[in-house]
Amino acid sequence: MSALENKRVLLGITGGIAAYKAAELVRLLVQAKAQVQVVMTPAAANFITPLTMQALSGRSVRQEMFDTEQEAVMGHIDLARWADLILVAPASADFISRLAVGMANDLLATLCLATTAPIALAPAMNREMWQNQATQQNVTVLSQREVEIWGPADGEQACGEVGPGRMLEPMQLLRQVSDHFSPGVLQGVQVLLTAGPTQEPIDPVRYVGNRSSGRMGYALASAFIQQGATVTLISGPVSLDTPVGVQRVDVETALEMEREVIARLDQCDIFVACAAVADYRCEEVAGQKIKKSQDRLEMSMVRNPDILQQVASAASAPFTVGFAAETERLAELAEAKRNAKGVDMIAANLVGGDQGGFGSAENALTVLWEGGGADLPMMDKKRLAQDLVELIAKKYHEKD
Ligand code: C5P
Repeated sequence: MSALENKRVLLGITGGIAAYKAAELVRLLVQAKAQVQVVMTPAAANFITPLTMQALSGRSVRQEMFDTEQEAVMGHIDLARWADLILVAPASADFISRLAVGMANDLLATLCLATTAPIALAPAMNREMWQNQATQQNVTVLSQREVEIWGPADGEQACGEVGPGRMLEPMQLLRQVSDHFSPGVLQGVQVLLTAGPTQEPIDPVRYVGNRSSGRMGYALASAFIQQGATVTLISGPVSLDTPVGVQRVDVETALEMEREVIARLDQCDIFVACAAVADYRCEEVAGQKIKKSQDRLEMSMVRNPDILQQVASAASAPFTVGFAAETERLAELAEAKRNAKGVDMIAANLVGGDQGGFGSAENALTVLWEGGGADLPMMDKKRLAQDLVELIAKKYHEKD
């Protein structure tokens, strides 16, 4: 059963260009079997027609406070009581400020004041408007009143600027609504995750790297967020978007990754080492670009620290999860690695040939822990990440 089945979502739409995305959101909510009642402010109707929203939601759209016909069907106080959740998407700077001071000067603001249901806002506005102290103070006031603020995202804006202020995408909002009704099993748990490759410099323009795409680590970060965890992602260089809600710290080398991980160990309940960390780095990095003047080039390399092992052996170690990429005897070598590194859980996959894994969109994992294990068959890395996070959560809570 969908977490949203028969949930009553009152979707408020205010006046902003992102209002057009609300149409897709209604479609997704209805598809997930929620009951959706759309309420639009007068300004919203400049961006998207009530008829569109009515057709998608299957209910007549409420716009006016003093509409005698509509009030006769369901008065505004009843409407405020009807909702299990009020989501305002997009929430304009103007609406946020009216909500912060408790105004009731249109139907939507009145409903927000009259409801006892939770309220969530998906802000959407120009980045300067979002960053303006007035808006930020209003958002703080609303957060203190337990109004949930979903987003905004960073990125290109309709006004041509780039920065924070984009409304979350409809799919992301659907996920937020769904999480709201069935919160994850890792609420309040702090997860630290490494992902992607490291790049070890040779000279100012060259490095030793590897083919890790970072996809598995990023999918894990998303899956942890879905389960309600707070996620910090220490990421090597990848070309992937940061999953919504994840705090990302970019690094290049193994030593930088180690430093950023160790600095956050005291605020970490679960540590997942998904990065393909270079085993060696150049002993000396050339100050200038190396010229091809000789027939042979010799480079001396030294071992990098093993970040996972260090975390696992720390005095108050978090629940630790490592990865093992092997070309043969998967379970045997992975179990040996789990013991050698002293980690709670290891997720092993076969690499080489057409096995999935590095650079691929799919993967399969053999997951091992003290006294047990599970096989997760070949599937899309996003789904695989969700299954792995469920296993991690289960074992983490058992150990707790
Ligand atoms: O020893 P190996 O590189 O096969 O171990 C893989 C696991 O150890 C992965 O979880 C990887 O992220 C982690 N690792 C690490 N620091 C290193 C090398 C590997 O955290 N220097």
